[in-house]
Amino acid sequence: MHVDTWRAAYGGIVPEAHLDGLSYEESERLWREVIEAGEGCVFVAENDRGVYGFASGRPRERSSRDLAEYEGELMTLYVLPSHQGTGAGKLLVGAVARYLAGRGVPSMLLWVFAENRSARRFYESLGGTLVAEDGFELAGAWLYGVAYGWGDLDVLLVADGPSS
Ligand SMILES: CC(C)(COP(=O)(O)OP(=O)(O)OC[C@H]1O[C@@H](n2cnc3c(N)ncnc32)[C@H](O)[C@@H]1OP(=O)(O)O)[C@@H](O)C(=O)NCCC(=O)NCCS
Repeated sequence: MHVDTWRAAYGGIVPEAHLDGLSYEESERLWREVIEAGEGCVFVAENDRGVYGFASGRPRERSSRDLAEYEGELMTLYVLPSHQGTGAGKLLVGAVARYLAGRGVPSMLLWVFAENRSARRFYESLGGTLVAEDGFELAGAWLYGVAYGWGDLDVLLVADGPSS
């Protein structure tokens, strides 16, 4: 899912060669490591045909001096194109927010490609505030990211979350 949603969402943003080079096996290995490390949460949205969305998050390192007022981070959020716009993304963000709030983490931020206008509108619709911009190199291209922050996670704590 991570590989497929990257390819669907980031054509024209991330170099094609990088998207072509993504590997299901490598992605599976990385996600096994993340889950086994147990340093945060991974939630999935699923129905009887399988998983159609997932999100992960964790508390930020105490040593992060930049944007230190945001204590948690939404690390990933992806919904398959066939299920976008059905409320899954909002539920998944809510599940990560509830996980963080339950561990005494009151705030969070996330990074998104600056050119990912659709996701940016989604985060803005959930009350996220633009708090930072940064440039970085990926696969030989210079890309820009922007960060959205929530100073108070309460606005994201929606009633019913997906299964974890
Ligand atoms: C961004 C993404 C996670 C949003 O999830 P989603 O399931 O499509 O969004 P939802 O159906 O939960 O939408 C929740 C709310 O946001 C609004 N919304 C969603 N996308 C929007 C957009 N592009 N513009 C404006 N509002 C948007 C919806 O209208 C909805 O509002 P409502 O609660 O008032 O009805 C999903 O579209 C996705 O996976 N996109 C591709 C990958 C990606 O860009 N991931 C983010 C990486 S940082």
